[in-house]
Amino acid sequence: MATTDTSKGGPGLAQQRHIVTEIPGPASRELFERRQRSVARGLGHVLPVFVTAAGGGVVLDADGNSLIDFGSGIAVTSVGNSAELVVARVTEQVERFTHTCFMVAPYEGYVTVCEELARLTPGDHDKRSALFNSGAEAVENAVKIARHATGRTAVVVFDHAYHGRTNLTMAMTAKNMPYKQGFGPVANEVYRVPMAYPFRWPGGPAACKAEALDVITGLIHAQVGEQNVAAVVIEPIQGEGGFVVPPDGFLPGLASFCKANGVVLIADEIQSGFCRTGDWFACDHEGVVPDLITTAKGIAGGFPLAGVTGRAEMMDAVHPGGLGGTFGGNPVACAAAIGAMETMGKEDLPAAARRIGDIMLPRLRKLAEAHPVIGDVRGRGAMIAIELVRPGTLEPDADTTAKLAKACHAAGLLVLTCGTFGNVLRFLPPLVISEALLSEGLSVLEDSFAQL
Ligand SMILES: Cc1ncc(COP(=O)(O)O)c(C=O)c1O
Repeated sequence: MATTDTSKGGPGLAQQRHIVTEIPGPASRELFERRQRSVARGLGHVLPVFVTAAGGGVVLDADGNSLIDFGSGIAVTSVGNSAELVVARVTEQVERFTHTCFMVAPYEGYVTVCEELARLTPGDHDKRSALFNSGAEAVENAVKIARHATGRTAVVVFDHAYHGRTNLTMAMTAKNMPYKQGFGPVANEVYRVPMAYPFRWPGGPAACKAEALDVITGLIHAQVGEQNVAAVVIEPIQGEGGFVVPPDGFLPGLASFCKANGVVLIADEIQSGFCRTGDWFACDHEGVVPDLITTAKGIAGGFPLAGVTGRAEMMDAVHPGGLGGTFGGNPVACAAAIGAMETMGKEDLPAAARRIGDIMLPRLRKLAEAHPVIGDVRGRGAMIAIELVRPGTLEPDADTTAKLAKACHAAGLLVLTCGTFGNVLRFLPPLVISEALLSEGLSVLEDSFAQL
């Protein structure tokens, strides 16, 4: 039931776009002044409206504006902000205890999350999990586990990859600016190969499908040596790098290559996981079973939690005490994850994500017909993007991308950009967004194109 009480977020908020000031308005601008005086400049921002409440498909700001959310806090609030079961479980947990450190004295919630990860992630083999605080920390630990299990050191990653900002994951992330510039030296034993990127593969999508696997495994053979590779780490659909979807057959082929060569396949599903792409995990689309899978973002309805889940024998290769951290698998975050996963199951959010894709993709393809600046429309489920180029070329058009994002923001639609060249508009609505709001958001985007 919609409420007019905007001091509380959650699904009860009126699901409407309602703009009462310019964006950002005076209250947000004043808060931004304070931010400038106290918060480090190195932290960027997409849209400097200060949030007071959020839920369903809307974000409310300090000036009383209600914006449509096509970002989900970068693929986090898939179940919606302050989702009912998340709030209920978190509240109950907070009142019991907030922290013991799982390594000091354990608690049931951590085990329940690991049981759910074993049940939900691809493959029905025996699995174990370890929980952490952030996606980057999960990726770092997945690499540690793979190195320990194989006794090898090399890690193969892809062009356009994003795996985080810590020292090792910064080395694994492809893009220099802003993620690496001035922060070196970066970790060694990280080797980069091209990504199977249909839109940008020389010769186009058909050539990509035909050649990518051979080119990439050939490079691994020639430049690294399979026998040295501990892990190949791949985002089944790339996130920050531009929502790049490899051609069908590529991921299964990569999995076979890894298996044949004793290489650990790590699927980084931090952005693509937990129903986002229309399956519980993007790997499910082609029945790919990674050896290790990293999760974070959508796992806990907005709480900081991340996991590494994998084959029991690989995970348990690490000696007791070799994994962990003070806050990893915090009881409140675990309670949130249990509430979020329950919501995903009860509300069938994989189906909701597919429905979002079914609504968005045809409208975006139609938009692309009218606006040749859209070079590619791609994605799956509720992980959808358009790539902008100078018409008829592959030359990235970051300026128009930024201009469109700004126009959407001004009209009350929160969209995000991404891509190595900054020329991709990505859409990550909460999976619980109403069809009416989704459709209105698309209309705002269409209007922004009309005004170019
Ligand atoms: C695929 C992928 N891996 C890793 C990360 C890093 O996660 P975090 O920001 O929680 O450290 C991200 C974050 O965007 C991501 O999209």
